[in-house]
Amino acid sequence: MIPIDEMASFCKRKGLVYPSSELYGGLAGLYDYGPYGVEVKRNIMQTWWKLHVQDREDVVGMDGSIISHGKIWEASGHLAGFSDVLIECSKCKNRLRGDAFIEESLKISADGMSAKQIMDTIKEKKLSCPKCKGTFKDAESFNLMFPVQLGAGKDAITAYLRGETAQLIFTQFRNVSENARLKLPFGIAQMGKAFRNEISPRNFLFRMREFDQMELEYFIHPKKQDCPYLDEISNMSLQVLSAETQLKKGKHISITIKDIVKKKLMHQWHAYWFAKQLQFFTSLGCKAERFRLRQHSKDELAHYSKDCWDLEYEFPFGWKELEGIADRSDYDLKQHSEHSKQDLRVYDEETKEKFYPFVIAEPSLGVDRTFLVLVYEAYDDDKQRGNIVLHFSPKISPIKVAVFPLVKKLNEKSREVFDLLKKEFTCFHDETGSVGRRYARMDEIGTPFCVTIDFDTLNDKKVTVRDRDSTKQERIGIADLSTYLAKKLV
Ligand code: GAP
Repeated sequence: MIPIDEMASFCKRKGLVYPSSELYGGLAGLYDYGPYGVEVKRNIMQTWWKLHVQDREDVVGMDGSIISHGKIWEASGHLAGFSDVLIECSKCKNRLRGDAFIEESLKISADGMSAKQIMDTIKEKKLSCPKCKGTFKDAESFNLMFPVQLGAGKDAITAYLRGETAQLIFTQFRNVSENARLKLPFGIAQMGKAFRNEISPRNFLFRMREFDQMELEYFIHPKKQDCPYLDEISNMSLQVLSAETQLKKGKHISITIKDIVKKKLMHQWHAYWFAKQLQFFTSLGCKAERFRLRQHSKDELAHYSKDCWDLEYEFPFGWKELEGIADRSDYDLKQHSEHSKQDLRVYDEETKEKFYPFVIAEPSLGVDRTFLVLVYEAYDDDKQRGNIVLHFSPKISPIKVAVFPLVKKLNEKSREVFDLLKKEFTCFHDETGSVGRRYARMDEIGTPFCVTIDFDTLNDKKVTVRDRDSTKQERIGIADLSTYLAKKLV
């Protein structure tokens, strides 16, 4: 795998992702998606939405506002507890995220370390500022929420850019569940922007200040916790690293869902949703062995969560969180009921009692981290061809078919073919440079098929279709072209 900085410059060169505000010196942790990146990102989000919402009867979607009431974040605990540990050099005033500094300096995991633990480690290991070798002052908590002023003058109020999409789901729980006439167990999903004032954004799209999430809050009856869908996935294997194994410095093991459930390694709903997440990634061409599930240790757990497992991916900078699936129990609905003085409980027809549904599993996936994984999985520096090939699944390729005239003289015919295909697929017409150069340009952005119009086309009404992965070429009649490509592009 190429280092992350090389990946960032490849993405910039190929019109996938650019550093944001670069014209004015840039802003750390903010990125803009270019003409090909935006297509990949939208395809990822569309595939997730289809799998998690449109293909299911038990899940509906919503789209909440980005700016939200301060009380939401007070109730959710984000204003009090959603913080990182900040350390500052007493000499050059360099400010760093404490856990990241420990991880980089000592090559150990510092997830969930408190401010005191971080300062103790810094003192014990005699760590100094990487810039000036000065010593660090006491560590302090730094809240990640972004406040925004709404309105003017004395009427102005402080609202917040949402720190996760999840809270909007909880605050609209009553409206959505009643309007969609949902019966437990059911889920509410949302995709969109989230904002965190990260102290040290790094690793390109991995840790950003503005990013997109795809989240699903899955609500169950606290007294009916069995997952009815286990049969669908019980033979699937997952790589699992429990908190206990981590304490013993052990490695992850490969285990079937059937055995995970039998050994009660994790909640049934956790196992089910992880299987679904892995299916999402493998359906987009990823290799299952690059993913594992890691359980959070007690001191790593977020303020709202009782148990949490991360789906991790092996990036060039180590195994890192791609998706968290937390057990939030009834924490959020209860908090919002108490703070808003509105009853968010549901009524149980059987027992005639009101209760708070539990969110046992909350699949929460970052779009940008997914994008990064998919580019890494697709990236192939093909020395034989002499160019990079992105072996993207056709589902996420930014361009599905490129159409070339062999020479400019054949433009009219090739435009005819292009116009025919563009009704059905995202297409690109390229008439400049040698055909070899044009193939290479398309390989580099992951276009699965290139169609070339040559002089024979004018007589036999056939074109040459070149497959990106095998480089094999086939002559296909123009009349059959759409059907041929549609079959291949699934
Ligand atoms: N609602 C639960 C929640 O937000 P999280 O683990 O804080 O949980 C979920 O975030 C996912 O959002 C992460 O697994 C990651 O994919 C993505 N994410 C979180 N912080 C991010 C950041 N600073 N930059 C990019 N993606 C981030």
